[in-house]
Amino acid sequence: MRSVKMLDLHAQYLRLKDEIDAAMATVLERTDFIGGQDVKEFEKELAAYHGSTHAIACGNGTDAIQIALMAMDLPPGSEVITPGFSYAAIAEMCLLIGLKPVYCDLDPNTYLMNVEDAEKRITSKTRVLAPVHLFGQNAPMEAILALAQKHNLYVLEDNAQAIGSVYTFAEGKKAKSGSMGHVSTTSFFPSKNLGCYGDGGAIVTSDEALAKRCKMIANHGQSVKYHHEVIGMNSRLDTLQAAILRVKLRKLDQFAAERQAAAEHYDRELGAIPQIQIPARAEDSTHVFHQYCMVMETPELRTALQEYLKNNGIPSMIYYPLPLYKQVAYQQDVTLPVTEYLCNRIMALPMGTDMETEQLEYITSTIKNYFSTLA
Ligand SMILES: Cc1ncc(COP(=O)(O)O)c(C=O)c1O
Repeated sequence: MRSVKMLDLHAQYLRLKDEIDAAMATVLERTDFIGGQDVKEFEKELAAYHGSTHAIACGNGTDAIQIALMAMDLPPGSEVITPGFSYAAIAEMCLLIGLKPVYCDLDPNTYLMNVEDAEKRITSKTRVLAPVHLFGQNAPMEAILALAQKHNLYVLEDNAQAIGSVYTFAEGKKAKSGSMGHVSTTSFFPSKNLGCYGDGGAIVTSDEALAKRCKMIANHGQSVKYHHEVIGMNSRLDTLQAAILRVKLRKLDQFAAERQAAAEHYDRELGAIPQIQIPARAEDSTHVFHQYCMVMETPELRTALQEYLKNNGIPSMIYYPLPLYKQVAYQQDVTLPVTEYLCNRIMALPMGTDMETEQLEYITSTIKNYFSTLA
């Protein structure tokens, strides 16, 4: 058995080595390192994968959020409603460009946006709903889109963790995560389900005007070289990264299936332990398991189990230990009960493609041993 890692990127690389090495060698031969052929092809393939008309590659998922928000051209102080329990990027980018993140609470079982709670936070300054498709499944998009339409708001989907998951609307129509709002953003950070070998990100949209502005903003606000129409940024996906991503995009659905199989093993083996709440599946979304996050009965139990696993060579992680509104940099006077409950109890187990059955069995039997010592 290989040693257990939170995510084993090396095992995946070995499997893809021939294709990845060949794709990189082609770029090295062409030396079109910036804005090269693979970037253009990847953008087309990524848009097509989503069933959207435009994908704009950029430097990382945080830039993607900044660019998408800048493209909306909102009045200063406009409010963006987003979960208080998430990665920091939306809150950080809002504050960086003079917008106000307004935090809402989550569903305690799926960890996804609580739309009723979001609605209560709408004011005359609200301009954007920014759900996060946390850990690999879609936020309740049907309700989010309806709420946005009612109040004339933009919807920005943070799709950094759920690329490839599929949402089903009540009347049966299916859509890929990141294809339903006005705009979506994703990250190709190496650990993401579609990860490159460095930093990368993209914006996906079928809104012509937003696409045009995002493309300009990502490129110093210019569409014609040396003619700067708006304030922009320098945010580019390297051609080498695009070449890697083209190989991996073709395997993304297979990657998701492997992650789902690992999650099913965890569910099957851990689901009966009363002190563990396994991750619930949203009724209207598939789950691509960027992370397998379970909720422990008490914070103390989480600490003790993490320690026990560590002593047995099994890593675990806490996504996320602090609500965004309690971060020193983004502090706000608000209390969200589910957010706080999750921060204190949530815990992620190793997850990824290429997990060995032996590894999964070792992880779950170690957890079961821990609980049998408590009994
Ligand atoms: C939900 C979410 N949004 C945004 C980002 C930011 O992506 P990046 O690290 O590529 O800037 C991440 C990545 O860590 C994320 O998990």
